[in-house]
Order: sequence, then C-alpha cells, then structure tokens
Amino acid sequence: MKAEYKNWMPKGMILSFAAAAVGCVAAAAAVALLVPAGLPKTVLVAVLALLGAFFCGVSVWSIFLYRAFSYNGRRQMSRQIIEEIAETVKLPDGGFGLDVGCGSGALAIACAKRNPRASFLGIDRWGKEYASFSQPLCERNAKAEGVKNVSFERGDATALAFPDGYFDAVTSNYVYHNIPGDRQEYLLETLRTLKKGGTFALHDIFSKAKYGDMQAFVRKLKDMGFEDVRLIDTTDGKFMTKREAAWMGLSGSALLIGRK
Ligand SMILES: C[S@@+](CC[C@H](N)C(=O)[O-])C[C@H]1O[C@@H](n2cnc3c(N)ncnc32)[C@H](O)[C@@H]1O
Repeated sequence: MKAEYKNWMPKGMILSFAAAAVGCVAAAAAVALLVPAGLPKTVLVAVLALLGAFFCGVSVWSIFLYRAFSYNGRRQMSRQIIEEIAETVKLPDGGFGLDVGCGSGALAIACAKRNPRASFLGIDRWGKEYASFSQPLCERNAKAEGVKNVSFERGDATALAFPDGYFDAVTSNYVYHNIPGDRQEYLLETLRTLKKGGTFALHDIFSKAKYGDMQAFVRKLKDMGFEDVRLIDTTDGKFMTKREAAWMGLSGSALLIGRK
C-alpha cells in the first residue's frame, strides 16, 4: 500500500471550473441560435463568452497548479515543502507535537517519522472545500508509511481543544490563510498550546493583505518572551522561486519559526 496525499488543488474544484466554462460556452451558443437579433442578444452572448473564456483560463491554471503540487509529478512541490518544514522540527524523547490543519496527514507523518521517540497529533476540520482530505485518509497514510507514533482527530484551528502549554512543538502548512478573520489571532491560538521551550514552524502566505503587519507580529512575539523568532521568505528559492510563487498565487509565503 502506498500513501496517497492527494492534492492541494482538489480535482473537484478543477472539474467545477471546467463545467462552468462548458456551461457558459453552451449558453452563449444557445442564445446565439435561439434569441432574435438585437442589442440584448449581442450583450448576452458577449458576457457569456467572456465568462466562458475566464473559466477556461482558470481551469487551465488549476490544472498547472495540480501538476506542480502533485506527489507523483515532476515538480513535487508539496513533498518538498512538507519535507523541509519537517526537517526543522526536533522533539525531545517522549515529546508531543501538534500539526494544525493536517489535511491528508503529510506533515504530521513526516514529523513523526523524523522523531520516532516522540509522538505527533494532526488535527483538521475536514470541511467540504478540501473534500478529498479526511481522518481515515490520514490514518491509511500513516499505516502505508509504517509510522505508528502519529494520530489524528477533528479540531478547529481557531479554537484548539487543548490547554495552554500542552505541546513540545507546533507546525502548520498553508492553513490559516484559508480561514477568514484575524489570522494573527489564529497564530496566537496555536502558540498558546506550546510549552515553555517548545518550538514552532508555521508556513503560510503571510502577505500584508492576509495577515496585516507580520514584522510587527514578530516584534510582538519577542516582547511576549518568544525567542529566536524569524520569518523566513520561502519564495526566494528555498521552497519555490519568486516566479512560481507569483503564477501560483503563493506570493508572501514564509516560514515563521522560533521557540517559546
Ligand atoms: C491547503 S490544505 C493544507 C493541508 C496540509 N497542511 C498540507 O500541507 O498538506 C489546508 C487545510 O486546512 C484545513 N483547514 C481549513 N480551515 C481549518 C480550521 N478552521 N481548522 C482546522 N483545519 C482547517 C483544511 O481542511 C485543509 O485540510
């Protein structure tokens, strides 16, 4: 059995874009054939054709994204990011780590594999927007990788069901930008669950539009007593090139690391 980590670009979303493109083009053709000539007909056909072209473009873009992210493709960007984040996570013997928004389990499993004397927990809300990710999929993947020191449960990144100072390490990859609201608060909620001395490695699109002033946030963490806090740009060749980040919509990607 081989682990199946699925794709950050869900197949269902690509199919919806393609269906919308086909639907718009079909509707434009129907209007062109059935509606009597006149200004309303011209406007309607033009609008539907433009929408068709837009969805066609989005479909092609999402297919390219799917191929770049795929664990089986040539680029394997998801695998590279997961493995490089996991490399930064060192747990003490008997330690306990948390991966927030674990999806198909890739990062939690990669961290557990590298820290065999510790254990890792992956939590996710497994909603309908990433319908291919699920708790049973995570559990099958852990089994396929032969990793026993990892477990998974349903949870919400915005209100974690753990006491303060519970974990020795917390990780996350491309999760909080999906959640509307105050994303700096979500980071603080994750860091709340970290023990004194525990480490964090949180990767996301930390753009100003999504997070506000992240340099101020780094200063705030330092003022709160966090140590070695760094926001490392991952679009400078570390995880991807600037050009890749731009066409993929991942500009602003960075790794927030440090110790409590
Ligand atoms: C792009 S996927 C990344 C999955 C995984 N971290 C990885 O790197 O493969 C985003 C994940 O965030 C999860 N997510 C979104 N909102 C969440 C929330 N409020 N609480 C927990 N998980 C959430 C989604 O269910 C999805 O699995």
